[in-house]
Amino acid sequence: MTKRLTITIDGPAGAGKSTVARCVAERLGYTYVDTGAMYRAVALQAVRMGISPQDEEGMSRLLEETSIVYRSGRTLLNGEDVSEAIRTPQVTALVSEVACIPLVRAFLVECQRQMGAEGGVVMDGRDVGTVILPEAELKIFLTASLAERARRRQLEWQEKGVEASREEVEQEIRARDKMDREREVGPLRIADDAIIIDSTELDVDEVVDQIVQLALAIKGEDTP
Ligand code: DC
Repeated sequence: MTKRLTITIDGPAGAGKSTVARCVAERLGYTYVDTGAMYRAVALQAVRMGISPQDEEGMSRLLEETSIVYRSGRTLLNGEDVSEAIRTPQVTALVSEVACIPLVRAFLVECQRQMGAEGGVVMDGRDVGTVILPEAELKIFLTASLAERARRRQLEWQEKGVEASREEVEQEIRARDKMDREREVGPLRIADDAIIIDSTELDVDEVVDQIVQLALAIKGEDTP
């Protein structure tokens, strides 16, 4: 049987990680795991339960009472499919704060480690190559200029009917980048053995091709 790799894709908000990771997983016949979706599900549940991220006891209760499952590209919160509900600006505005809470990170990192344990997985996020799956065979750090990331995010929002100026989107991304980079636990960081891909001038297919080629080279094969 051919070896099934573990592939991690980390990077800042709006770099195109989810789209790229999903396509790489499809091409290789692997499972795709979006770790950010799981943080978003915790943030959504905090909104629904009216718990502030600063309320440590409340957040601890929330984690005890909540089941978060990521399966076949869908995010389930206590069994309910919340894949669309976790993409609202309200959840997006809260999620980086929720992701700073050590309790939340410990809870999700443990789930995510188990999901990646068998290999044959492409997992994207901020700390996948550094904390969740440090033994992964292929680690990618996917980035792009702030202006390009804001342009892509604004388009995504427009498609969902959310209007925001480029400045507003840029500000939101800059604020999230800062929180993601500066938090004490699991900050956004480039793993020492990661390959950096700057997608500012590349389209999705070009990035996917690069990653698939790198994976095949590690496997010692020409085709998936
Ligand atoms: O990739 P995303 O925008 O859906 O991620 C949502 C938030 O979750 C992001 O602001 C940072 C956080 N996150 C994290 O802290 N660690 C991860 N492994 C994935 C996401």
